Amino acid sequence: MSWSERLQHWLRGLLGGDAGNRRIPERLDYVAPVEEAALVPISTGRASMAQPSIAFRRNAVFAAFNTAVPVSDRHGLAGRKKELARLIDAVVKQRKHALVYGARGSGKTSLARVFGDLADEAGCVALYGSASEGTDIDGLFRPFLDELPLQRGIGGTIPADRAMGVQQIANLFVQGVTQRTLLIVDEFDRVTTERTRHEVASLLKLLTDMHSAVQIVLVGIAGNVDGLLAAHPSLRRHLFAQPVAPIERDELAGLLRLCAQQAGLAFEEDALQTIVSAAIGSPYHARVFGMHAALSAEAAGRERIALADAQKGLAEALAEWSDLTPEICAVFERALGQAGSLRGMIALAGVLAAHAPVLTFERMTAAGVDLFGDELGGPAAVDRTIGLIAPALSEDGMPGELQFADSLSPQFLVLMANGAALRSRDAAPVARDTLDARELLQGVGL
Ligand SMILES: Nc1ncnc2c1ncn2[C@@H]1O[C@H](COP(=O)(O)OP(=O)(O)OP(=O)(O)O)[C@@H](O)[C@H]1O
Ligand SMILES: [Mg+2]
Repeated sequence: MSWSERLQHWLRGLLGGDAGNRRIPERLDYVAPVEEAALVPISTGRASMAQPSIAFRRNAVFAAFNTAVPVSDRHGLAGRKKELARLIDAVVKQRKHALVYGARGSGKTSLARVFGDLADEAGCVALYGSASEGTDIDGLFRPFLDELPLQRGIGGTIPADRAMGVQQIANLFVQGVTQRTLLIVDEFDRVTTERTRHEVASLLKLLTDMHSAVQIVLVGIAGNVDGLLAAHPSLRRHLFAQPVAPIERDELAGLLRLCAQQAGLAFEEDALQTIVSAAIGSPYHARVFGMHAALSAEAAGRERIALADAQKGLAEALAEWSDLTPEICAVFERALGQAGSLRGMIALAGVLAAHAPVLTFERMTAAGVDLFGDELGGPAAVDRTIGLIAPALSEDGMPGELQFADSLSPQFLVLMANGAALRSRDAAPVARDTLDARELLQGVGL
């Protein structure tokens, strides 16, 4: 059995053998993408007949699969029913503060926005803000004041020329706010100043103790949970932490079908499953891969996205990512080049990180031994694997807790471990460059 088949088999066992809920990469056979001409367009002659509609369709693909904009409409939010129900219960019903955390691109903002919408319907005022680096507590909460439902006249008591401290902000929220309000602070991970984080923890505690009508929902990356709670362990009772986990396969498939439909296209089932597998639970990756696959079908004037489009889409997405993140891509290429029999372990690191960003030695060893046995998956193999990908990892949180520095990269690592798509795409320009150079240098007498 190849390592990728073992990886699949193992994950199936881990998830109780329910193939429908697997969030694992199927083996991705990177057969060279089928030539466009080999795929018969559904309506021949369409492309030449309807030039303007091609640009239109292309734009529709960009709009439908857009990864730049968080979801704000609840119908467009895939696979988050449980998370929304828990947030409503904890924040709206139990009046706790909340922390929504997860990897980059996992869908934190989308979840927080739709939750804000639902809370709004339940009678709370939901206001959004975004933290910026180096901000203090005043900078974090002052931007909300314009929209905060404040008692008439109280605005005049807010100092315009002086930063407010924790106590002053708490007093304002408790005495001056007339309606139940949720302040959703996104990008909280940008607040790296220990003092500010400590002050935020103090504010949450004060607001709880003073039965404030204002509740805070912090949104950011995982590492901040412990840091925040360490300042006030008793906050644990008053703060609800909601991880933003990978999305189930069926839900991701549904999301992709919907995006394709909005662009006037449809996925063949094997193409859809290939993309769902490669996304490993991430809506961001599903959209990126889906968009490139859809563009491939669209360029050929077809309405159905075939397996070859999906494979081409994955290769395109990988090439695009490598252009944007060349250093990390080079680390992965080097690691895979030197991995030998540890190729499967390197892919496993990517799969585990895509499921939950924090990698520990113990987590990798347990999965490695389970999957590849003591020799290829035991402690020594884990040490070597971590050593190979170390330049792409960081140890920001607790000691021994490793994360991929670019939390979007695990899916691309698994893609790279799975096939030679990147190399085959790169091969052409390099060869052309070399030819061009030879031509230019002819006669130079080298
Ligand atoms: N549940 C979902 N259903 C459909 N699309 C989603 C879902 N969650 C996220 N997306 C899409 O994935 C992309 C990233 O989502 P979002 O911006 O919410 O993630 P994030 O975790 O806040 O990212 P960042 O860490 O960069 O702030 C967006 O294009 C968004 O539309
Ligand atoms: Mg966000």
